Amino acid sequence: MAVRIGKILITEDDIKRRVAELGEEISRDYADTTPVLVSVLKGGIIFLADLVRELKILHEIDFMSVSSYNGGTESSGVVRILQDLSINIEGEDVIIVEDIVDSGLTLDYIRSILLARHPKTLRICTLLDKKPKREIEVPIDYIGFEIPDEFVIGYGLDYEQKYRNLPYIAIGVVDD
Ligand code: IMP
Ligand code: MG
Repeated sequence: MAVRIGKILITEDDIKRRVAELGEEISRDYADTTPVLVSVLKGGIIFLADLVRELKILHEIDFMSVSSYNGGTESSGVVRILQDLSINIEGEDVIIVEDIVDSGLTLDYIRSILLARHPKTLRICTLLDKKPKREIEVPIDYIGFEIPDEFVIGYGLDYEQKYRNLPYIAIGVVDD
């Protein structure tokens, strides 16, 4: 099975505009504090890198890595911490920055782990929301785009670790 680049769902310009809006919104909401933006590796890093450059407030970034996919196009439901945060988030205003929320299983798991560390606040920011696939309700505070139930690649999102560099979001077409 291989995947090739299909129809472009969200252009580079659309992403740029929306990320700037999200940056403004977050800068407004966190004007009086210094939030910690937690990026979920690896998919979230491109979005995080662009988002923080739209922030007008002081902030910190940190990373955590979990596995939830078996390299294919469906969530396995099995989530494991591969790399933990380096910052102690107790009492901090934390924002999880994700590339995509699909079933919600990964985010639900990360959220419960981080909540157990008693941050002052915990919010979620995702570039893409694949709502039709949701299996667990997770509260999302900032959403870039809602997308239909399609497997997508680009702007951080991969198929077997490839295509993360595409500056747009495209449908990954599976050729058997
Ligand atoms: P979830 O646990 O089903 O919400 O999916 C979590 C992770 O699966 C996301 O953070 C992505 O890394 C990956 N993922 C979900 N949908 C897609 C997709 O359409 N393309 C590439 N990766 C995806
Ligand atoms: Mg991810």
